[in-house]
Amino acid sequence: MCGIVGAIAERNVVEILLEGLRRLEYRGYDSAGVAVLDGAGALQRVRRTGKVQELSDAIAAHPVRGQTGIAHTRWATHGGVTEANAHPHFSTDRVAVVHNGIIENYLSLRDELVKKGYSFTSDTDTETIAHTVHEMLKDTDSLLEAVQLAVKQFHGAYGTVIMDRTDPSTVVVARSGSPLVIGLGIGENFIASDQMALLPVTRRFIFLEEGDVAEITRTSVAIFDSQGRPVEREIVDSDLEHDAGDKAGYRHYMLKEIHEQPIVVRNALQGRLGETDLEGGIFGAGADDILAKVKHVQIVACGTSYHAGMTAKYWLEQYANVSCNVEIASEFRYRKSFVHPDSLLVTISQSGETADTLAALRLAKEQGYMSSLTICNVPGSSLVRESALAFMTRAGAEIGVASTKAFTTQLTAFLMLTLTLGRYNGMSKDDHDAIVKGLHSLPAKLEETLSLAVGIEDLAEEFADKQHSLFLGRGDQYPIAMEGALKLKEISYIHAEAYASGELKHGPLALIDDEMPVIVVAPNNELLEKLKSNVEEVRARGGIMYVFADKDAAFASDETMRVINVPHCEASIAPIIYTLPLQLLSYHVALIKGTDVDQPRNLAKSVTVE
Ligand code: AGP
Repeated sequence: MCGIVGAIAERNVVEILLEGLRRLEYRGYDSAGVAVLDGAGALQRVRRTGKVQELSDAIAAHPVRGQTGIAHTRWATHGGVTEANAHPHFSTDRVAVVHNGIIENYLSLRDELVKKGYSFTSDTDTETIAHTVHEMLKDTDSLLEAVQLAVKQFHGAYGTVIMDRTDPSTVVVARSGSPLVIGLGIGENFIASDQMALLPVTRRFIFLEEGDVAEITRTSVAIFDSQGRPVEREIVDSDLEHDAGDKAGYRHYMLKEIHEQPIVVRNALQGRLGETDLEGGIFGAGADDILAKVKHVQIVACGTSYHAGMTAKYWLEQYANVSCNVEIASEFRYRKSFVHPDSLLVTISQSGETADTLAALRLAKEQGYMSSLTICNVPGSSLVRESALAFMTRAGAEIGVASTKAFTTQLTAFLMLTLTLGRYNGMSKDDHDAIVKGLHSLPAKLEETLSLAVGIEDLAEEFADKQHSLFLGRGDQYPIAMEGALKLKEISYIHAEAYASGELKHGPLALIDDEMPVIVVAPNNELLEKLKSNVEEVRARGGIMYVFADKDAAFASDETMRVINVPHCEASIAPIIYTLPLQLLSYHVALIKGTDVDQPRNLAKSVTVE
């Protein structure tokens, strides 16, 4: 989704802005632009549709320089993918703006601004920000004041950075519903929508809070809350890896991230899993007092994170004796739901900035939940800051739009939550010990599972010309089938549906023919015999199956079925293990199809608008 970078320095900031944009590319975008105040005090702008490289080439051909500048990668919402719609947007030759989010009342603002004599050069909502600030500057010399007045008129979400040609020593930023972080340098300061963009220039960050407006110069940062009162915000030293943007020799970030899973899962367990039980206090100070009272868990998330929540429901109810509901955040936030007594609201998110999940958390806080916990990968993100409890998944920066290592670390975190809640709700010793044993074996089992990659490469050839596919699983493997289908459709653009295989005869059997590959996840568990009957239903209708199975599950390859043996593992960790072959399958199918694996069409890494 859209990305913002800004800088105010004594040196030329153009390369800092471009590098920042490159580091935000993983978020997904369709056009990019830079504006700087040049030595003569004039605004210079370069914009291009397509990749940041095209913008960079254009600047190399016709260099622009400046010590104050803003830059943006745009993911189109209002207005098509054109250069005119790319940011930064100007109001006359005075005000320049970049913006993430959506100004919902932009049409009425636009009408009023046109009546006041402004002409629009784009179809975007963002251009109304530029003209509104310009209009306010008629009554004040202060850009800060103008922005504070302007934001009162905006409904919707914005993270925005604004420059005024007449005041080159200042940029003003405002945040409401779309994250912004200020990076502190020495004699220079920076702004971005994501700290990743600024890691080459600083590791000291201030995360703005909702409603904040800040005035930034080379040497100062003054922050004001939504009421206009000066406020201090904490300075955080980031421990994100600077080189997280490096593919480490892999062809794609997604492949690198798939292969990182054994190590990041080990990190997620480090210092949290003791020899025979979890270490104390792993959910943070005071968390155990809260968790001991939990009788119901409400999970809210989107996409892959939602699939982690669906898997967790099986675990929490089966092992921890705690009832659990799971809901897609965009649904949860717009309906009245029942709040069970002693309920814990759990949000799950890789980015910690997903707009719908954040809105769901904010709604839940008004609804009387006992407490809130986020299972999240990005320290300092909005969900982490706004939740009562935060459990970090420690997957490291995930760059590929298709989530892989974030998912398996989320599941690892949920097994630890299951053990914790189980402790207070009569979990059996056998289940407890089996989960602890499973977690201890998990990194090595993941490593072993990655060795299936070679066979899966061959398998992928058989999918490349297919239009549709069906994924089947039962029990806690049903969400894994859903996640497998999401991965395949996301990066290979093959239509993929997932079903709990018991549902086959209630409709989807009608789809089966030899053009519809059926992918089955089949660990050796108590549902195996049921699953085998479902497999026979497919076979009887001429379906071609690809079965990822435990070798003891006794599936044999024949002309209608290819069996790929997955390493035997504890039942509790099987959903994590069976995720890997499905990730690899999607990756290799996408590779054969030649799609953009890391930045699939129309998608964004972090969905910060609803
Ligand atoms: C997964 O491959 C997707 N890119 C997407 O479904 C993602 O999981 C979803 O947008 C939620 O993101 P979050 O985990 O950052 O909240």
